Parts: sequence; structure tokens; C-alpha cells
Amino acid sequence: MADQGKRKAEGAASGGETLILGLETSCDDTAAAIVRWRADGSRRILSNVVWTEHDDHAAYGGIVPEIAARSHVERLDRVIARSLDEAGMTIDNVDAVAATAGPGLVGGVMVGLTAGKAIALGRGIPLIPINHLEGHALSVRMTNSAEFPYLLLLISGGHTQLIWVENLGQYHRLGATIDDAAGEAFDKTAKLLGLGQPGGPRIESAATGGRADRYDLPNPLEKRGGCDFSFSGLKTAVREIATGMAGADGRFDGQDVSDLAASFQLAVARHLARRTERAMDMVEAPEGGGRLVVAGGVAANCAIRTKLSALCERRSWRLVAPPAKYCTDNGAMIAWAGAERLAAGLVPGMADALAFAPRARWPLAPPPAGGEIGGGRKGPKA
Ligand code: KG4
Ligand code: ZN
Repeated sequence: MADQGKRKAEGAASGGETLILGLETSCDDTAAAIVRWRADGSRRILSNVVWTEHDDHAAYGGIVPEIAARSHVERLDRVIARSLDEAGMTIDNVDAVAATAGPGLVGGVMVGLTAGKAIALGRGIPLIPINHLEGHALSVRMTNSAEFPYLLLLISGGHTQLIWVENLGQYHRLGATIDDAAGEAFDKTAKLLGLGQPGGPRIESAATGGRADRYDLPNPLEKRGGCDFSFSGLKTAVREIATGMAGADGRFDGQDVSDLAASFQLAVARHLARRTERAMDMVEAPEGGGRLVVAGGVAANCAIRTKLSALCERRSWRLVAPPAKYCTDNGAMIAWAGAERLAAGLVPGMADALAFAPRARWPLAPPPAGGEIGGGRKGPKA
């Protein structure tokens, strides 16, 4: 099948087109997409269907792995059917299937990967097991020109990392969170403020009418070298302020919530920008200036983009960010990563692909010497 992958790549190079189905089920979104790569260099996302499961988990205040896995089982067939329908094709037209194989909630990963294996086996087409983080890392290339190498700030619900992306499959971790992930900090803060889930968008909209300079929040890891991150101190500071601002009935005043949401968001944005600037000093930017790529669900946040954009302007770097719908989990980025791997001939043989086990943990780049840090959430998404 490595040969099969190569043949496909050669086929595309000789004038054909390659249609890749991407499957994503690593957390609480059930997603499928069709991406088309043509030999003339044109690349298109023909469909991108995401069924978000937040409602299923609302009563529990967080994602329940068993509920997520069951929802994927119930929904994936329909999501795939819709992605084919919207792309105007049937499963017979698909040339390869790419499925998230980790890291993530392993029950959910298993659902998407098993579906991918069944399609690949039934149709005799390549299966490309994809690292979900690689999907995020390459997602910007779907919509923007972002040549390798670039500095990647990956900020999602389970991960916060700075990675030097040298080439496809060549990733070097420069820094990572030593406790919570950025998205996790947004989600926990939103829960604390009674804003519901998903926390990031709720905090962002609550912050719209708020004064970001009202509450003075700490600057994490101020005296620590390198470019690791920490969010637990910010979370504790928010909790202390929130405890003090609750009325006799335990409820919060709406303006206080907006001000605290805005102050928290600004503190996170500042921390991300400061640590990213340190990473800029650690790499050798290519001729013509460096590129900073921001990806993952938290990259949808406008205040964070604004801070990073100011940083890039000051340092004469270019900020490249995918549209918000490709920042959060989606099938297109998985199909895309599959397309890149297929074109490069980096596809396992059928036997290896079918034997590929779902992974709860799967670092994109090895952790720096000194131990396993940087997973963010201590659970399976780490
Ligand atoms: O990448 P993603 O969809 O899933 C993971 O791989 O984790 O990221 C989800 C995370 C959640 O924590 C969510 O609250 C956060 O991204 N998020 C945001 C925004 N939209 C999603 N955080 C801040 N601002 C947003 N607008
Ligand atoms: Zn993700």
C-alpha cells in the first residue's frame, strides 16, 4: 500500500485528481469532509460537515467520553453520507480515506478509525491514519499560502504548544503548557462564571461588552526562560475574584462577568503573545521574514489574533491563521493532512493501516528532555 500511495501520487501528477475523505471523531465533534487535489495544483474543500455534540454533554458540565463515543457511533454514517452528498459524489468516487487515529478520547478515535478501516478495506483504497495535531498543524495550508518552515502556535482544548514545523512530518517542540491547555482554561473559566459550554466562544462574547483593564490578573511564568505556558494561576486568580464578586444569593452581576471575561481573555492573549515572542527568538526565520501560524480551536478568538498580529507586525513576521471554522475540529483538516501524506508517498501499507491502533496519547513532536510535559489536560486528550 505504500506503493499504492505512491501510485496515487504519481497518478495525480500525470493529470488525475485525488478525492480524499477525512474523518474526525477524537473529541466531541463528529466530522467528515471531502478534499480534492488536482495535479495542476488546484486544491478544494468540496464539503466539510461537523456535527457538534455540546448539547449531549450540557447536563454534565464537561465532555463525557462514553457519551461522546456513542454519539459518534450513532452519527458518523449520516455525517459521511452528507459529506459525500454535499460534494456531489458517492463513496465509489473516493480514492483514499484519512482518519484521526489519536490523540484523543480513545473510544471516539476508535469509532472514526474503524469506519476508515472498513471503507478502505471494502473499497481497496489507502487508509491514512492521521495525528489530530498534524491536522491542526497543516490546517492553515488549506486556505492560505504557508510554505514550510513556520512557527506554529497550537492552541486547542487539549494542547498548547509552540512547534517549529520544518516540513511535512518534521516537527520540533519548542515549548508547551506545564499545566492546563489554553482552551481548557477558557472552558473552566466559563463554567466558573456560569456561562456554559463551549467556554471559549462564550467568554469571547461575554467579553465584548467588558472592560479588559478592570481586573489585574497575573502574568504567568514571567521570570521563567524558554517558551512554556501556564494557565492554572490565571484560573485561580479568576476564581478568587469571582468568589468575591458573588452577591448574597450567589449570583453574579452581568457587567462584572463581562469585565472579568474581558480581563481573563486579555491576560491569556498577552501570555500567548509573550511566550510566542520568546519562541521567535529561538528559531532561525527564513529569508524574507518568519511566518507565525496559529491553529486549534482557541485560534478562533479575535482578541488573541489581534495580540498576535501586533506582535508579528512589531517583529516583521507574517501571521497566518485559518478561518475560524477550520480552527476548531473538522474533517477537512484530516482529509488535507491525508492528501499531503499521500502526495509525499507517506502512506502505510494496507496491513499496517488495518493494524494501526487508536492512540489516546500521540505527541506530534517529542517532549523536550526532562520529561513528559505539555499535554495540557491530564486526561486522554493530552
Ligand atoms: O481544536 P478544538 O476544536 O478541539 C481540540 O482539539 O481540543 O478546540 C476546542 C477548544 C475548546 O476549549 C473551546 O472552548 C476553544 O477551543 N475555543 C475557543 C474559541 N472557540 C473555540 N477559545 C477561545 N475563543 C474562541 N472563540
Ligand atoms: Zn483539535
